[in-house]
Amino acid sequence: AANKKLLVLPGDGIGPEVMREVRRVIDWMSRRRAVSFELEDGLVGGAAIDAEGTPCSDATVEKARNADAVLFGSVGGPKWDGLPFEQRPELGILRLRKELGLFANLRPAKVQDPLADASSLKADLVRGLDIMIVRESTGGIYFGEPRGIETMPDGKRRGIDTEVYTEDEIARVARVAFDLAKKRGGKLCSVEKANVMQSGRLWRAVVGEIGRAEYPEVELTHMYADNCAMQLASRPKQFDVIVASNLFGDLLSDLAAALTGSLGMLPSATLGAVGADGRRAALYEPVHGSAPDITGKGIANPCAQLLSFAMLLRWSFDMDEDATLIEQAVEKVLAGGLRTADIMQPGMARIGTSVMGEAVLRELDKLAA
Ligand code: NAD
Ligand code: IPM
Ligand code: MN
Repeated sequence: AANKKLLVLPGDGIGPEVMREVRRVIDWMSRRRAVSFELEDGLVGGAAIDAEGTPCSDATVEKARNADAVLFGSVGGPKWDGLPFEQRPELGILRLRKELGLFANLRPAKVQDPLADASSLKADLVRGLDIMIVRESTGGIYFGEPRGIETMPDGKRRGIDTEVYTEDEIARVARVAFDLAKKRGGKLCSVEKANVMQSGRLWRAVVGEIGRAEYPEVELTHMYADNCAMQLASRPKQFDVIVASNLFGDLLSDLAAALTGSLGMLPSATLGAVGADGRRAALYEPVHGSAPDITGKGIANPCAQLLSFAMLLRWSFDMDEDATLIEQAVEKVLAGGLRTADIMQPGMARIGTSVMGEAVLRELDKLAA
């Protein structure tokens, strides 16, 4: 195959710490699987603010456009919390999603068998859990206008955000979710608040129309977002694929993370449309952030970043076999009783980021032998 161009954006906090473990897997792949990537590094978030004065420069956007896939770490941290809103590190990821047209954020929440007891729920309720949350990621209240803080005639301030969705924005993310449901358990749950939000009313109507016209074989249900949060926290196995707006999808995926044991376990893929040339812009990022509370301690769980790389192999390069190897290696390490602090359980061995990475490499060696 042609060169696989990969842009690596470690970002801030634990981003660079967990990305280091991915680099070791990439080295392993070139040694043992004869796969080579054309790797490029870039700056994003606070790291980019410090070096270039902006959380995501035009040059970085250009590099991302030219790459076949982007592997993203995480951005943000207390060092930059005092900056004006327009200059915050978080704008780095928002800009990349927007400018690359990455409208579908796929957030699988899968409970690894050895971690069923690490869940916030009883093991029985989550064992075997395998949900896919499809979060819209370039629209809604994250980008809607008007927005801002303004001063009213009486001198008091008001903060404004606007939730807007066009039917095309809803339709394209719905199709991604329906396609996934077709390949998985055949069920899609569309989430909004059609009882109080106009964008939610349209969301429900459009998803229903597409379901009837294009995906009659998928079992479609509609659920209010508040109920969905409750259902996820009490009977999560009823779900297969969930599709939701930018904000609701963000909330529900952190909740789903707690069910799987830790935010440190959850990968994601953020995809654009398939272009005329068959290419599809794609960025892969863990669901977690820069975790300032544990930065620099060497204890962050690298699994979410490693599994994001596995998603990259599968979605951007059709490298199913290699992706599965990484997923299996992670599962074997967990089955062997090794745990980073976030997923620590009684009787298990507590290890740090790099020992976890080494353990994954060891399992990869065995699996590929
Ligand atoms: P967070 O996800 O960074 O952390 C939440 C909690 O989960 C913390 O206790 C943290 O220690 C723990 N955690 C997260 N990832 C972990 C891992 N890999 N291993 C072990 N523990 C892990 O969320 P936050 O604290 O609300 O946000 C911190 C900063 O990150 C903020 O600036 C926020 O805006 C940013 N953020 C960025 C992204 C992103 O880059 N995509 C995502 C979420 C938050
Ligand atoms: C995420 C994060 C981001 C979001 C922030 C950092 C902009 O929470 O990727 O889930 O809200 O999308
Ligand atoms: Mn989030």
